[in-house]
Amino acid sequence: MTGTDSGSGPTEVRTEAARRRTFAVISHPDAGKSTLTEALALHANVIGEAGAVHGKAGRRGVVSDWMEMERARGISITSAALQFSYRDRVVNLLDTPGHADFSEDTYRVLAAVDSAVMLVDAAKGLEPQTRKLAEVCRLRGVPTITLINKWDRPGREPLDLIDELTSELGLHPMPLNWPVGVAGDFRGLLDRSTGAFVKLTRTPGGASVAEQRTLDGAAAAADAGDAWSVATDEHDLLTASGMDFDAAAYRAGTASPVLFGAAVINFGVRQLLDTLIDLAPAPAPRPDAAGTARAVTEPFSGFVFKIQAGMDAHHRDRVAFVRVCSGRFERGMVVVNSATGRPFATKYAQTMFGRERTTVDTAYPGDVVGLVNATALGVGDTLYADHKVTFPAMPLFAPEHFAVARATDSSRSKQFRRGIDQLAQEGAVQVLRSDLRGDQAPVLAAVGPMQFDVAAHRMAHEFSSPVTLDHLPYTVVRGIERSSEGFVTSAHGAEVLERSDGARLALFTDRFRMNAIRQKHPQLELHPLPGDHPDATRPPGR
Ligand code: G4P
Repeated sequence: MTGTDSGSGPTEVRTEAARRRTFAVISHPDAGKSTLTEALALHANVIGEAGAVHGKAGRRGVVSDWMEMERARGISITSAALQFSYRDRVVNLLDTPGHADFSEDTYRVLAAVDSAVMLVDAAKGLEPQTRKLAEVCRLRGVPTITLINKWDRPGREPLDLIDELTSELGLHPMPLNWPVGVAGDFRGLLDRSTGAFVKLTRTPGGASVAEQRTLDGAAAAADAGDAWSVATDEHDLLTASGMDFDAAAYRAGTASPVLFGAAVINFGVRQLLDTLIDLAPAPAPRPDAAGTARAVTEPFSGFVFKIQAGMDAHHRDRVAFVRVCSGRFERGMVVVNSATGRPFATKYAQTMFGRERTTVDTAYPGDVVGLVNATALGVGDTLYADHKVTFPAMPLFAPEHFAVARATDSSRSKQFRRGIDQLAQEGAVQVLRSDLRGDQAPVLAAVGPMQFDVAAHRMAHEFSSPVTLDHLPYTVVRGIERSSEGFVTSAHGAEVLERSDGARLALFTDRFRMNAIRQKHPQLELHPLPGDHPDATRPPGR
């Protein structure tokens, strides 16, 4: 990882933290996240040619239990963070699993970043997965920059697309640049702060960084003709509509700077990187569970936002990915797990992105460290050195998929129970139980169905207790008061279960069922479990 070994005082930590920009890309599958990642890395000179970082095809070299699953489905469960330098800054791009591997991990990454980039397909506008993730960002106040991608091919009107940010997400759009030419006839970008025209230049296949050609207004009018005058008219309209940049509103997460581009030809990507460096927040003091902020210059602290088991098929290892919040991390240091008070030696520390694995020797606030052999750590755990701190528990998200797990071999009930408890403690799946179902048939609950595949695989291979999973027809979940439970347990198409963190959850086959029970029993008290629930608690047994 980037860092100097000269001195390790607060000044060094403050300087290094201020250089960091830690963000994630939120998008719907196929909006161009992999393409954008490659294009960003190309600008940052991490690699010589696009395609080497995160291409879906040709991912090699990771010896992992998940390798086959990843290859077969074109997904990236083992990926965590890509670090690169750009200008004088260090950028950490945290991977947000998408596609079939969309899961609680995808949400949890948003607890570990300081800002987000929302990638929108110019032809499709906001899509369901983007909306869900944007909602989590809104609830957490994560500042978000929007990139409208694929302007090189036919798509929607730009004004129509930015209107959608307000109408669908309640996010005030602040375009920093504006496309010259309709989608599919991309001529370049009007830089709204300077009024200059950044002319589209192409390199074959976007495989290297193109020269940037900038023209003034008169030259732009001569070059792009009507397309330029349409863009300048729309720019004036945006100004008249109060859509100029407002830094405070961006930082508060209520307004989003908007950029246009085409990742596949690597155009508009430099503008995105510059915007991230210039506007996105650096790591800030992080509030602990009691609300007291821990300065970045305090001794080392961080929290686990993702656990990845079975990274190495030959060793049953687990890697805990930690976001550093304060201080300087040095590989080999002994830190304390605040949940248990036990020390944890950090002999093996890595980072991984795509097929790359690198040893981490030093890390600063904003960086991600993968701690190998993290058998005692769970998602949400805080690690610290010297001064004790406990960061707020990782929220548990509203599950959308439910299945009953049963051991295929009933003589292995001990292994079965141990495995299920372990998965719940790690946060790999949520585990729900009721007296009615008994301990031999807990209900697994997940945000994405892929979590079930991972759970079943690990039960068989790691805990030697293969399971069958019977999917349940529930689609709606709510928190429920104990006093209301009788109304639900006596109804068809509904059930009450206890999650391993103690929360009582009511499950319904669909909204109609829930509303019918509500109508019959107006006293029924239910409360929603939004994507990011503020009173969520840590995983069980902690
Ligand atoms: P994802 O990670 O968000 O799922 O998206 P990915 O980058 O894989 O991109 C999905 C498809 O969209 C790819 O095409 C990719 O080339 C294309 N794409 C991404 N950015 C742009 C863009 O700016 N303009 C255009 N025209 N296309 C873009 P594919 O046909 O699915 O794959 P490939 O064979 O091109 O790799």
